[in-house]
Order: sequence, then structure tokens, then C-alpha cells
Amino acid sequence: MQQSKRKATKNNFFPLLFFQNLLTSTMDACAYFETVSEVYDSWERVKRVENYQETVGIALFDKMFMLAPDEEWGMFTWNREDFQNKDEKFMTFAKKFVRMLDMAIDMLGPDMEIVEEQMYELGGAHQRYGVLPVHFDIMGRALALVLADLLGDRFTATTKSSWKSVYGFMSTTMIQGSVGI
Ligand code: HEM
Repeated sequence: MQQSKRKATKNNFFPLLFFQNLLTSTMDACAYFETVSEVYDSWERVKRVENYQETVGIALFDKMFMLAPDEEWGMFTWNREDFQNKDEKFMTFAKKFVRMLDMAIDMLGPDMEIVEEQMYELGGAHQRYGVLPVHFDIMGRALALVLADLLGDRFTATTKSSWKSVYGFMSTTMIQGSVGI
């Protein structure tokens, strides 16, 4: 990936501070590792669901439409009718969308500065797709509902808060990248 124009700073939003502060001591590094592991492990579990890309893709858009019934989602090449009919156009995109999450989770590694730079670059690309900050918020809430449905009892309070931290970090950095701060 291209080198980011912006380096990590200590002045970012809460999730970023949360992550960076976690890395300041050995114990904190353990907490960071546990948070990321929790997300990895639960995502691996989701990936065991049959045809998970289709299943998660459909469920995610279902929740997104439910949470934001008036949103236009103009960045997509398909419309709600395509979604309702599970048209090829929608299904291809839905799978791509889930692969997008896969890629992002794979990016989470031991070096938060590298991850942050990648997310920041990705945010710039999303701004060009027409994705707005509000869409990240809707997607975060939709994702939590989908994970709760698919993981059932395994979506524990710890799993939920780990996803909240990780998604918060990713989306905040991407939004910063999309607005160029
Ligand atoms: C933390 C949240 C998100 C992550 C980590 C993420 C990640 C990605 C990745 C890795 C790609 C493929 C690489 C690229 O095109 O640069 C992508 C593409 C894309 N994303 Fe996201 N994304 C997020 C949120 C969103 C949201 C909220 C929307 C809109 C509702 C969105 C819409 C798109 C679109 C339209 C594409 C282009 C797909 C295409 O090539 O047709 N993303 N995203």
C-alpha cells in the first residue's frame, strides 16, 4: 500500500488514544492483543457459517436499511429493488463488501502505526466512493447486530466491546483520512 501522507499523532479521537495508550506498557500490550484476538476469533467463527459471504452480506445490508430507511446509498451500483430480489448485481457487491471486512481484519497487526496509515489511506478512497461519516456509524451498528445474531451466546460483553474498540479505531481513522485531517 502507498505510503500515507499523514503519520500517527497522539491527538486523535478516543479510539485511537485508547489503542495507543494500550501499547504503553507490557500489560497494556496484552490488553491490546486480547482485544484484537477476540475480534479475530469471533470473525473466524462467523466465517464457518455456510456461505458466510452471502449470509453476512445480506444480513448487513438488511440491518443497514432497517437502521437508516431514508438513506440513499448512492455510492452503490445497485438499488434496493436489486437487494430485495437478491439480484446478481447486489450479490456480487455483498460478497465484495464482506471481503472488504476480511481485508480490514487481516490488516490488524502488532504495529498499530502501520495499520493506522493503511486505514487512513483507505479513508481517502472511501471519500472518493462517496462514503460519508454517517455511513460508518450505520455500518458499525449494523455489524454489531449481525454479529449478535450469528454468534448468539458467544457474542459476550467482551466480544462486543472488542469489536466496538476495533471498529471505532478503524472507522475513526478512515473518517480522518476521508476528510484529510
Ligand atoms: C471500518 C469500515 C470499513 C472498512 C475497514 C472498509 C474497507 C474497505 C476495503 C478494504 C475496500 C477495498 C479496497 C479499496 O477499494 O480501496 C473497500 C471498498 C469499498 N467500500 Fe469499504 N470499508 C469500510 C466501510 C465502508 C462503508 C461504511 C461503506 C458504505 C456504506 C463502504 C463502501 C465501500 C465501497 C463502495 C467500496 C468499493 C467497492 C468496489 O470496488 O466496488 N465501506 N472498503
